[in-house]
Amino acid sequence: MQKKLIIGNWKMNPETPKEAKDLAKKYKLLAKKNTKIRLIALPPAIFLPILSGGRTGSQPAWGGQDAFFENYGAHTGSISPSMLKYSGAEYVLVGHSERRSAGETDQDINAKIKAVLKKGLTAIVCIGEKARDDHGEHLEEIKKQLELALVGINKHQFKNIVIAYEPVWAVGAGATSADTPENFLHNAIFIRKVLSGFVGDKARLVPVVYGGSVDKKNARGFLKEGEADGLLIGRASLRANHLAQILQAIK
Ligand code: PGA
Repeated sequence: MQKKLIIGNWKMNPETPKEAKDLAKKYKLLAKKNTKIRLIALPPAIFLPILSGGRTGSQPAWGGQDAFFENYGAHTGSISPSMLKYSGAEYVLVGHSERRSAGETDQDINAKIKAVLKKGLTAIVCIGEKARDDHGEHLEEIKKQLELALVGINKHQFKNIVIAYEPVWAVGAGATSADTPENFLHNAIFIRKVLSGFVGDKARLVPVVYGGSVDKKNARGFLKEGEADGLLIGRASLRANHLAQILQAIK
């Protein structure tokens, strides 16, 4: 059985390299204590080489929060998949709702995923509806996001894809609540159905993780009743004691 992926999205935190190093130290201890899960930290790219030592294969594993779709060139302010790779990243988050709302399009996301995969990194592809409705229209939104994100990706590359289902209304400090494990399970089945259009039976091998207001109270439910392959955690991943409580709860 594949290890559950516990992914900490640090977003634009913490403020200083020292604080980042302190948090990384705690992640290392947590990774050592919790060998049955795969702990992945996504710090701001500027801290990545300091924390990873520029090496892959460590515990926790490291990743970036975004990447441009070219590897070098005249793209002021952007960071490329190869830069992340040589800074110790094994994963790259693509299409996070906070980037989508800053203007990232489905076409950008598709190009970014392709660039990330080409470098041999694993793409954590975020999808999720802005609002939930009772008639299942949000499923159409998810389907469209998935299909546009994955168009033109080779079957054999799906082994390097993780889908993060994050309903936008459940993400971040403005969220009203997390989703429920039951809804997650329902939506994950739907997501796998869409994935089967790309890779047939192998869709069941693509990890589908849940994200959005994960905390120590709800984490276990998403993995157990929700059958999630992992969790993408924002706020609670910045406090090592909160993360430790989550890891304790899911043991
Ligand atoms: P949250 O963020 O856990 O703070 O809701 C999740 C995410 O944005 O990935």
